Amino acid sequence: MRVLVVGAGGREHALCWALAASPLLTTLWCAPGNPGTAQVARNVPIGVQDVAALVTFARENAVDLVVPGPEAPLVAGLADALGLAGIACCGPSAAAARLEGSKSFAKSVCDAAGIPTARWERFSDATAARDFVRRRGAPIVVKADGLAAGKGVVVAASVAEAEAAIADFMQAHTLGEAGETVVIEECLFGEEASLFALCDGTHAIPFGAAQDHKRAGEGDTGPNTGGMGAYSPPPALTPALQQAGMDRIIRPALAELARQGTPFRGILYAGLILTADGPKLIEFNARLGDPEAQCLLPRLHSDLLPALLAACDGELRDFDLRWKPDATLAVVMAARGYPGTYARHTPIGDLRAAEAVPGALVFHAGTEMRDGQLVSSGGRVLTVCGSGPDLAAAHDAAYRAVAAIHWPDGFWRRDIGWRALAGDRNPKP
Ligand code: AMP
Ligand code: GLY
Repeated sequence: MRVLVVGAGGREHALCWALAASPLLTTLWCAPGNPGTAQVARNVPIGVQDVAALVTFARENAVDLVVPGPEAPLVAGLADALGLAGIACCGPSAAAARLEGSKSFAKSVCDAAGIPTARWERFSDATAARDFVRRRGAPIVVKADGLAAGKGVVVAASVAEAEAAIADFMQAHTLGEAGETVVIEECLFGEEASLFALCDGTHAIPFGAAQDHKRAGEGDTGPNTGGMGAYSPPPALTPALQQAGMDRIIRPALAELARQGTPFRGILYAGLILTADGPKLIEFNARLGDPEAQCLLPRLHSDLLPALLAACDGELRDFDLRWKPDATLAVVMAARGYPGTYARHTPIGDLRAAEAVPGALVFHAGTEMRDGQLVSSGGRVLTVCGSGPDLAAAHDAAYRAVAAIHWPDGFWRRDIGWRALAGDRNPKP
């Protein structure tokens, strides 16, 4: 099999690392990739949004399967264009990727399929949105309808805060088109966890669960980021709750999309909140998470490649994925200042000592080679994943490897997994 992974982050390095282990693989490319993917794949200098160039490359190189990492190429129609060229793509069509690309579309699917989620209303008029917020009161959640790179959600503690978000999104256009319409929804309370499923349009099989830390600061404080760390399996999302998530959220969404004539193929990621009334959907994503993928893929015991092919071929019904009993915990090392402004091209020391820590894997994201020296080139730079028989062991392996990396211009949270580890170490009666 000749496979092309699309993306340049830690998630794509983890995908390449997992695919490279498949005995079915002959050639692996990554577009555009990073120095980490270059260790296991051939990097191709094509950007993730350049759908035409990706399709041309896949056709000219007789690629059998394309595996997109991020949502942008999916929303831009990569799977559709590859489909027209007769090339398999383990990711949804643009129509099905609206589950992630449009909050109001995702909510309408929830309503049609009876999926538990926060009560909501959509507004394209700022005055009507403000009236609604005043009527409902706080706390209340204001969301830009479109893709906003994690900046489109305000959980407002007061009516004034919600009104400010409406003014920013709808009148100051701080998010451009993405914020011209908003979804305003009921504020839910509970622990958050993410459930992943591999889907073939009709059938879904579990693809693991994880919890991530979105805030930049320790104790889950400070600005939102793409994710500063994650762990799997999440103790809060018990096997029974995972089953409930598959039955009440993932499978109904899949059935509704198939009914609408836009079946979902690829990884469906359900962001859940574990409320007193059971798990409810916060959001859908049409892809693996980052850094969740760096925790999930090292736990996969089965060969990833035939699973992705079965998803493309509509053959997941009798497919079984096996997982290792290990726990994993991933720490993101980011450039000082991220998610605000930060320096680029700061030197990173030799990674071999970190890679030699038993149970540790180092995945690259924003790195670059300059004159033979590894340097940073983005905000999230490395993901260091530790594995072990339990989360405490995974935590120790990850942080031992982090400590072996010399990067004075980087920072990382020292408390990844704190909630779960406190539970492990001091079990409640
Ligand atoms: P999203 O981009 O939809 O995942 O939202 C980002 C974050 O906002 C989530 O991870 C939650 O912490 C929070 N959030 C979103 N919707 C709600 C809600 N209805 N109630 C409470 N918190 C929410
Ligand atoms: N870590 C969250 C995401 O990938 O969306």
